[in-house]
Amino acid sequence: MEISIFGAGYVGLVTGACLAELGNNVVCCDIDRNKIERLKNGEIPFFEPGLKNLINKNIKKKKISFTLNLEEAVLAKEVIFIAVGTPQKKNGEVNLSYVKKVAKEIGKNLKKYAIIINKSTVPVGTGNLVRNIIKKEYNGSFDIASNPEFLREGSAVFDFMNPERIIIGTDSTESKKIIKDLYEPFSCPVVNTKIETAEMIKYASNAFLAAKISFINEIANVCERVGANVDEVAYAMGLDSRIGNKFLDAGIGYGGSCFPKDVRALHNIALNNNYKFKLLKAVVRVNNDQRLLLAEKTERLLGDLKNKKICVWGISFKPNTDDTRESAAIDIINLLEKKGGKINAYDPKVDYEKLRRDNKFKAVNFYSNKYDALKNCQALIIATEWDEFKNADLRKIKKLLQKPNIIDGRNIYNPDKMKKIGFNYLSVGRL
Ligand SMILES: NC(=O)c1ccc[n+]([C@@H]2O[C@H](COP(=O)([O-])OP(=O)(O)OC[C@H]3O[C@@H](n4cnc5c(N)ncnc54)[C@H](O)[C@@H]3O)[C@@H](O)[C@H]2O)c1
Repeated sequence: MEISIFGAGYVGLVTGACLAELGNNVVCCDIDRNKIERLKNGEIPFFEPGLKNLINKNIKKKKISFTLNLEEAVLAKEVIFIAVGTPQKKNGEVNLSYVKKVAKEIGKNLKKYAIIINKSTVPVGTGNLVRNIIKKEYNGSFDIASNPEFLREGSAVFDFMNPERIIIGTDSTESKKIIKDLYEPFSCPVVNTKIETAEMIKYASNAFLAAKISFINEIANVCERVGANVDEVAYAMGLDSRIGNKFLDAGIGYGGSCFPKDVRALHNIALNNNYKFKLLKAVVRVNNDQRLLLAEKTERLLGDLKNKKICVWGISFKPNTDDTRESAAIDIINLLEKKGGKINAYDPKVDYEKLRRDNKFKAVNFYSNKYDALKNCQALIIATEWDEFKNADLRKIKKLLQKPNIIDGRNIYNPDKMKKIGFNYLSVGRL
């Protein structure tokens, strides 16, 4: 199929690369000149395992190309995906300006029938909004569909290629058939539904996962007080197939570009429709508080943090990505700096220059080697569970730290082993 994708971000690029790999002809279009230039040269603007190889392979096969030219991206395409950002406004509402702009451009440039598929996460009703914007610019026939994306950064290519379900929200038989053909290579369940339901499925899924994380974090906080071990509690809970063993890792809470904004967006959607989604309010509050607990634990070990040197390992919101959007680590570092702490930080993939440009911190010293970052520090905080931290040389850590204090926000080490080595070790929900 001839496909174009508006928005060459995490979702757009992965979708484009995977659909090209499946044999389609794909054009990815973005308004970011630098991004498109880099992509044309086979450079990927962010870190995502497997993506670079896939894109370069399909550039060579002429199955994928990149353009700034919106007209070119619309012409002669059967399927046009919208995969632009839908960030959060200050008031919690979803900022749909990028989606609206793309809809207008598509409308202006359409010359024949196409299906416009929304992959961005958007409030219920956006399908109709996009339809009306296009209608104002183009009076030929076209269809609108919602096909929310469930990939996870860090395993996005795998997730796209091995979906657990595909949601197709549409109100026309023709578009349903074309989208079904597009996803023919996958054998997972396909849910055919109306556009509004498809839009809601994405928010409901993310909100439920966020609720699961906040729930286990609340259990962890009780475990600490009663002397129970949250890892074992979560393991045993997860053996019940009604609960499942995923998303039961206690820690410093969820972050990233999706969960925080999607939970708040759903809360807001409900509010705008005269319903108070009480549970979601609590999910957000628990998540925000959970980040603060790590700073409290650091104070428990170090006392007043003024001028204390502290090392933080991990800045990305989760492992295997360089994405720092709404990362718990950023809030924690800011809080420690506010309390007078002097921070050394290390992350295997995060772009330190970008963090500096974006003024994310006051005066953090960034390191390219995790052990160098430990020197003269009075404590190590684990903020992201990268494998290289799990496999770190614990005795070396102890030798390099000025004081053997570790505050583990992701429960990556065994408390008994840590105590045996001689660490003062605090984690989440375990004594
Ligand atoms: N990142 C994820 O893990 C993930 C997973 C599932 C769903 N989503 C949803 O997918 C959507 C995209 O997320 P993302 O993380 O890929 O965003 P992103 O910020 O990585 O990428 C968005 C891209 O859209 C481009 N863009 C903006 N306006 C444009 C325009 N008028 N024309 C062409 N390109 C334009 C931006 O320059 C940017 O490159 C969001 O709604 C998000 O909630 C994200």
